Amino acid sequence: MSERKSFYITTPIYYPSGQLHIGNAYTTIASDVLARYKRLKGFDTFYLTGTDEHGQKIETKANELNQSPKEYVDMMAKGIKELWKTLEISNDAFIRTTDPKHKEVVGKIFEKLVAQGDIYLGDYAGWYSVSDEEFFTETQLAEVFKDKEGNIIGGVAPSGHEVEWVKEESYFFKMSKYADRLLEYYETHPSFIQPESRKKEMINNFIKPGLEDLAVSRTTFDWGISVPSNPKHVVYVWIDALTNYITGLGYDPDLGGFDNQPETFKKYWPADVQMVGKEIVRFHTIYWPILLMALDLPLPEQVFGHGWLLMKDGKMSKSKGNVVYPEKLVERYGVDAVRYYLMREVTFGSDGVFTPKDFVSRINYDLANDLGNLVNRTVAMINKYFDGKTPAYKGDITSFDEALRLQVLETVDDYEMDMSQMQFSSALKSVWKLISRTNKYIDETAPWVLAKDESKKEALESVMAHLSESLRITAILLQPILMHTSKAITEQLGFSDSDVAFEKVTVMKLDEGKTVVKKGTPIFPRLDVDEEAEIIESWMKQTSEDEGESEELDTFNPEETTLTSVKDKEIKYDVFDRMELKVAEIVAATKVENADKLLKFRLDANDEGGHRQILSGIAAFYPDPEELVGKKVVIVANLKPRKMRGEISQGMILSAEDTEGNLTVVEAPTHMPNGSIVA
Ligand code: ME8
Ligand code: MG
Repeated sequence: MSERKSFYITTPIYYPSGQLHIGNAYTTIASDVLARYKRLKGFDTFYLTGTDEHGQKIETKANELNQSPKEYVDMMAKGIKELWKTLEISNDAFIRTTDPKHKEVVGKIFEKLVAQGDIYLGDYAGWYSVSDEEFFTETQLAEVFKDKEGNIIGGVAPSGHEVEWVKEESYFFKMSKYADRLLEYYETHPSFIQPESRKKEMINNFIKPGLEDLAVSRTTFDWGISVPSNPKHVVYVWIDALTNYITGLGYDPDLGGFDNQPETFKKYWPADVQMVGKEIVRFHTIYWPILLMALDLPLPEQVFGHGWLLMKDGKMSKSKGNVVYPEKLVERYGVDAVRYYLMREVTFGSDGVFTPKDFVSRINYDLANDLGNLVNRTVAMINKYFDGKTPAYKGDITSFDEALRLQVLETVDDYEMDMSQMQFSSALKSVWKLISRTNKYIDETAPWVLAKDESKKEALESVMAHLSESLRITAILLQPILMHTSKAITEQLGFSDSDVAFEKVTVMKLDEGKTVVKKGTPIFPRLDVDEEAEIIESWMKQTSEDEGESEELDTFNPEETTLTSVKDKEIKYDVFDRMELKVAEIVAATKVENADKLLKFRLDANDEGGHRQILSGIAAFYPDPEELVGKKVVIVANLKPRKMRGEISQGMILSAEDTEGNLTVVEAPTHMPNGSIVA
């Protein structure tokens, strides 16, 4: 009995911190395509995904909703599992970091590393982004905010999320000890980090400057895995999370080394592909391999850092009203359409931009027109000319036959090459090249003309056999991506399961006895592109208006230069009530370089931290901003700070606007003390 080769593929485990959007679904769908492909190729495949349920971000989220963290993650994990079901993700297991077995093993791993001296107790002081659950040094921050004395009072992580100052007792992992071995692994395993560009970034930005020891525990909140020997510490959520890739296979350090681990672990570890978004490549190609080295375990073959799916105006966020949820798209257009779009539209590894119009166009032109028509025409002709019985394939008769057969061979070759390199978009492009070629073949051979001439019967038979073969091969190649479409083609053309087994992909050899369906049903309905795009856009707007949904911590948008626009929408009293309006005195007012609309104000609102800075888009109305100094104005004091043109803005100055659009700041009575509440 020959043993099948194993293939282990993982996705990141998702933070259950909000409803997942199509950007989130991207990693899981891509991984699913690869997992299905490997299964079809005969690999004994294990596909793991799950949820990353601990940490400060989740604890805060649960608190906001007045739920216990456990209640909250139970509810969210259920939703995520349902989403994967909707998208027909074929994962073999779903791990939750709150699973008792995972928690136990993480505790054991931590203690083992303490015992062997890789982890030691110390004090941490530095910047932390809760949204990213990531530590930063000052130099790693994308922006820093300074007070008027020049002290750094805050900053922004490269992701755009704000950081906070953290000072606490913490365990540290001796990363530097393993830096040389890590670099050596990179060198001896050139495909460990893919795409190539991400490797250079890791070496130049993180390893070369010197790896710092990583803080691997927190004491200021509880929602995590306690360090068994010192339970006031919880294990840093990334150490907890990364470990899922081995606890999910049953790894347990108490059992001993690799050879003593459970069969499942020995069969699948090391992972063949670990799929991750580009922003978490660092965790997977530095901390993770070092953790594995410390455990004396082999390192994964490959970490693939794919790009982001963006919207026209940047990242998806509820506050921008540009979020698209996969459930909605699946409900209206089907799971195949969503999977096709995501895999076809974006070159895997690069960023891509979602627009409703592109999405609908893809479905309409590629799926409904090109492929749908081909299936329909073929089924109709076999019914008409051969009473529904596909003639046997007897080789090429005309040069058209030959050209089509050669296209089949080329497409299969290209497809295999692309799939093995995770170039999904390119693989689909090859399949559509065959589909277009086959449509053209119908026009070239003009079967309706052949049908009128009894002496051309053999040629006509050959055309139908070639068409049927081309569709059989198309159905095979689409299996990992468009499961339903593949099945529909198989059924409509009367193929058996064994006809579409993956190993039969290049055999142009159709046996007799295929009976096509009497009347083909369109595999994709034709769509009105503009109308559908509008529908999707209306869903996007809706997401920003949904009530009761707390907003994601979001990236600052430097493009937004006007703070003064007010939406003419009704608000509920509680929204107004949460707004903090205060009297503030203008201490300084200057122009902002390279931004004609903006003025930069320093204001005294009797804030604890001293003066605050606010940017306002009123420069056009105050050619001499100095005249504003000394005036008392009204500010929105508790507006989330944001950056504009590289400058922090901590609130908003209220202005009145006349019908011409001229703005004048609203002045407060001069006798009111700075910091007085306006209500
Ligand atoms: O990072 N386009 O979880 P997560 C493409 N818990 N991919 C996107 C995306 C977008 N717009 N938005 C998110 C975490 N993703 C950690 C992982 S693993 C040990 C711990 C991807 O829920 C993102 O890149 O923030 C990542 O691969 C996945 O969604 C989960 O992100
Ligand atoms: Mg393996």
